Amino acid sequence: GQPGRTDAFPLDIGEWRAGVPMVFADFAVGNELAATAGATVRLKVDATLQLGTDHNVIAETRHGDPRNVVMVGAHLDSVPEGPGINDNGSGSAAILETALQMKRFPVRNKVRFAFWAAEELGLLGSDQYVADLSQAERDRIRLYLNFDMVASPNYAIKLYDGDNSDNVGSPAGPPGSAEIEKRFEAFYDARDLGHVGTDFDGRSDYGPFIAVGIPSGGIFTGAEGIKTPEEAALFGGTAGTAYDPCYHQACDTIANIDATALDVNSDAIADSTARYAFNLRTIPR
Ligand code: PHE
Ligand code: ZN
Ligand code: ZN
Ligand code: ZN
Repeated sequence: GQPGRTDAFPLDIGEWRAGVPMVFADFAVGNELAATAGATVRLKVDATLQLGTDHNVIAETRHGDPRNVVMVGAHLDSVPEGPGINDNGSGSAAILETALQMKRFPVRNKVRFAFWAAEELGLLGSDQYVADLSQAERDRIRLYLNFDMVASPNYAIKLYDGDNSDNVGSPAGPPGSAEIEKRFEAFYDARDLGHVGTDFDGRSDYGPFIAVGIPSGGIFTGAEGIKTPEEAALFGGTAGTAYDPCYHQACDTIANIDATALDVNSDAIADSTARYAFNLRTIPR
């Protein structure tokens, strides 16, 4: 959408609007690479630098108590190297379908969907969104659910380790994050499906939310990491190879999706969103 313009979408869940325009330079990526190579990093914006503008797209339900906001997000951008179908068409599609289905019932709590811009440049869209919220607006967001890569071809079902009980080495999340992880665990347990914990270290758009103390959680099916024999026993697939061999590459196409993972994880996304849309009793204020 254009800045200041409200885009009309054929949806009955409420209003879709473009977020605050965000001007970015690609020095975020360039400097990271330069720093890795041990080079001196200079933050000098000059004519050789490519500038761009992007927008988050935010939609929320017409119904629901605005003092209790359930926020659900996925990044819509990809890296320039490829189309980004698993990373992150998968999460975007799952939350879009969840949003579309929400019109079947008026919810108790306000549900707000975010399609983040410029995650791949360093969480720019989610970072700007959280930074621009007043403290009162932050307090109204009771929890944030993040979905980034939910259909990796050699998938494991990885739940952000909000309760710090899975020995993955990241610190526990804000109070309430443990309860969110337990809710996802209950979903998979009820279907006799395995799950493992994964780093809750801020490597996706939930980072800015946990940094300001908003309880968060989410599902991840693995990126460049290597599947373990234990995970292959739990989920099938191939131990010793990457969860997503096409991560950040041109081959991250529609062929790079595991349909079973997309199906079950989309159900988990819809289930958790719909439950929190009605009941936030497990989430501390
Ligand atoms: N945020 C990473 C990317 O978009 C993927 C990722 C998601 C990594 C969740 C770890 C956990 O490339
Ligand atoms: Zn990515
Ligand atoms: Zn991603
Ligand atoms: Zn855990």
